[in-house]
Amino acid sequence: MHMTNSKTGFHNHKGVMYVDDVSLSDIAREYGTPSYVYSASVIREQYNVLEGALACALPKKKKHLLCYACKANSNIAILKLLRNLGCGLEIVSEGELVRGLKAGFKGNKIISTSFGKSSDEIRACLEADILQFNVEAEAELEMINAIAGQMGKIARVAFRLNPDIVGGGHSKISTGRKEDKFGNTAAKILVLYKRAVEEMEHVTPVGISMHIGSQISQADTFRPGFEQIAEVTEDLRAQGFEITHLDIGGGFPIVYDNEDILDLDEYAGWVKDFIVPLDVHIQMEPGRYMVGNAGILLSQVRYIKTTPSGKFMVLDAGMNDLVRPAMYGAYHEIRPIQNSGRTTTSNYDVVGPVCESGDLFAKGRECQDVEAGDLVALMSAGAYGFSMASNYNSRPLPVEILVDGDNVAVINKPQGIEDIMVRESIPSWL
Ligand SMILES: Cc1ncc(COP(=O)(O)O)c(C=O)c1O
Repeated sequence: MHMTNSKTGFHNHKGVMYVDDVSLSDIAREYGTPSYVYSASVIREQYNVLEGALACALPKKKKHLLCYACKANSNIAILKLLRNLGCGLEIVSEGELVRGLKAGFKGNKIISTSFGKSSDEIRACLEADILQFNVEAEAELEMINAIAGQMGKIARVAFRLNPDIVGGGHSKISTGRKEDKFGNTAAKILVLYKRAVEEMEHVTPVGISMHIGSQISQADTFRPGFEQIAEVTEDLRAQGFEITHLDIGGGFPIVYDNEDILDLDEYAGWVKDFIVPLDVHIQMEPGRYMVGNAGILLSQVRYIKTTPSGKFMVLDAGMNDLVRPAMYGAYHEIRPIQNSGRTTTSNYDVVGPVCESGDLFAKGRECQDVEAGDLVALMSAGAYGFSMASNYNSRPLPVEILVDGDNVAVINKPQGIEDIMVRESIPSWL
C-alpha cells in the first residue's frame, strides 16, 4: 500500500507504520525480514539541520566541511545521497575509501582518521589525493612520509589530539581519555609538528584533529576539548608553524529513548567561542547523527516462549544483525508495525535466534501483546546497525532498502546461505 503523504520519515497512518509514503508491512511482504529500511528524507533533514546550525555560528567567508563518518552506515547509496548534498567523507579503512570513491566523492572531500593505517591504505589514499590524513602515531607519520616519497606526492596531515576527556554514551565509545589508544598528547603534537616540518619532505602539516567519543549528550563535554585545541594551535603558531585546518570530530547524539540530547545551538556556540577566532577551515566528522534515526530494523515475531521466569518475544532478527544492545547495552525502541487491536501488554524479554544469552534486544520491556507472525521495528537502527552486522551463527546478512517518498529500492541484496561460504574451501587432504 502506497499513499501520497505529506509526512516524511517513520510515522503511523491508519494503524500502520509507514516510512515516507510506503507501508512497512508492504515492505516486509515484498522483501522479507529481517530487513534494514532507511528514509532518505530523514538523512537529508539531519544533514540540513546540522548545516543550518553551523551556518548560523560560522563566518560566511570561511568554508567548513562536514565529513560524514561512514563507519556509521557505509552503504554506497547512502554515501551517494550525502555526497549529492555536498557532504564530505571521513574514512577509517581502505574499504571505506573504495566505497567513498564508488559513491562519487572526490579526494578533496575525504579525510582519513583510521587507526593503524596499512601501507596499502596509505598508498590508496595518496592515489586518491585525499584532503587530509589525521595522524595517530609517530610511526604512522614516518610511514606516510616514506610512502608519499616513493610515490612523488605530498600528504597533508593533521595530528589527532587526545585531550583526556571522558565523552560518549558508553565506555566503549569514549575515545578521548588518556588510557584510550587514540590520539596524541598536546606535548607530542608539538614534537610531531616540528619533525614533520623540519625533517619530512613529503608531508605538509595543516592542523589538528580530535574526536572524543560518540552519543555525547552535553555540549559542555566538548568545551574543554575545544579549549585544548585552541591552546595547542596558539602554541604551534607561536613557534612559527602554520595551522589552517581543525577537525573537531563527531559524536553528536540522536534520540533512542527519551533522553535529552545535545543542544546544537549551544554546541555551535562553543565552536564560535573557541574555534572560529582561530581563523581556520573547520571540519567535522558526524556519523550517527546523519543516519541513526533514519533507519529501522524490521523484524517478524517467530513465536512467544513462556518460561517460569518470564515471557520471551523471539524475533527473526538477532544480535548478528544489530549488535548494539549486546555490545553496548544500547536501548532501541521496539514498536509494532500494525495496530493489532490488542489492548493488553506484557513485559517481554525480546530476543533473537542466535545461540547466546546476550542475544537480547530488551529485558522485561513492556510492549503491546504480540503473536507469531507480527511485525516489529527496532527503531533508530540506521547507525552502527548493518555496518556492524556479521554472519555469526552462519546467518545471512539482511537486505537493505532505501525509501524516498514513494520510491523504494533495494540498496543491498539479502545474502543467501551459499553466499556466506563462497570464499571457503575444503583442502584436498581432508
Ligand atoms: C574518528 C571518528 N570520527 C567520527 C566518528 C563518528 O562518531 P559519531 O557517529 O558519534 O558521530 C567516530 C566514531 O567512532 C570516530 O571514531
